[in-house]
Amino acid sequence: MKAGEVICRLSARDGRKVVLRTIRWEDLDDLLEMINSLVEEKADIVRAEKVSRTEEIDWLAKALSRLEKEEVFYLVAEVDGKVVANSEIGRGYTSYDRHVGGIGIAIREGFRDIGIGTEMMRTLIKQARAMGLKVLKLSAFENNKRAIHVYERLGFVQTGRIPRKFFKEGKYVDEIIMALLLE
Ligand SMILES: CC(C)(COP(=O)(O)OP(=O)(O)OC[C@H]1O[C@@H](n2cnc3c(N)ncnc32)[C@H](O)[C@@H]1OP(=O)(O)O)[C@@H](O)C(=O)NCCC(=O)NCCS
Repeated sequence: MKAGEVICRLSARDGRKVVLRTIRWEDLDDLLEMINSLVEEKADIVRAEKVSRTEEIDWLAKALSRLEKEEVFYLVAEVDGKVVANSEIGRGYTSYDRHVGGIGIAIREGFRDIGIGTEMMRTLIKQARAMGLKVLKLSAFENNKRAIHVYERLGFVQTGRIPRKFFKEGKYVDEIIMALLLE
């Protein structure tokens, strides 16, 4: 898949115009600002430390190469010319699990609860089918009710739980494993 390819355009629930497209090199500063804002607010993502510009340059360079080789699909949401959400589907690495895709998604504070996450997930599921994937998997912090609600509404089922997987702000939190069969 090419960088910066527009997949679809939509209106968020508050009327804001949203473009869903693949990542591109020019997203560097927006992506850096976004990941660090998520870390700062202690969002329920599996990243606790801020990212330096050098780390983000390395990450984006690798991500663009993986996108081109169709190993990973990276979808961002752009509002008013700024990237406000990032997501991905990574394909399994071995011949045993190349049919399985792992999803990750995060929306910036200020852009949640207006339908962007649901539309991005719908687009990811559609893309997963186009990639020939048979199973999608993801995981969430057990207290991330909003994320679990969105995933369940799209057909994901809770298939497992790793007790005390995360230790966040002085408390253990279970990891909820979810899956969606695409056939
Ligand atoms: C989780 C996330 C991806 C969802 O995307 P979003 O754009 O906010 O979601 P949407 O607006 O499409 O839908 C949100 C839904 O959750 C519901 N919701 C909000 N807070 C909720 C809560 N505490 N409990 C249950 N449902 C909740 C909303 O009512 C809405 O449901 P509805 O459409 O049936 O009314 C996004 O909020 C996010 O990135 N959060 C921070 C990072 C994160 O948690 N990433 C996921 C890691 S697994």
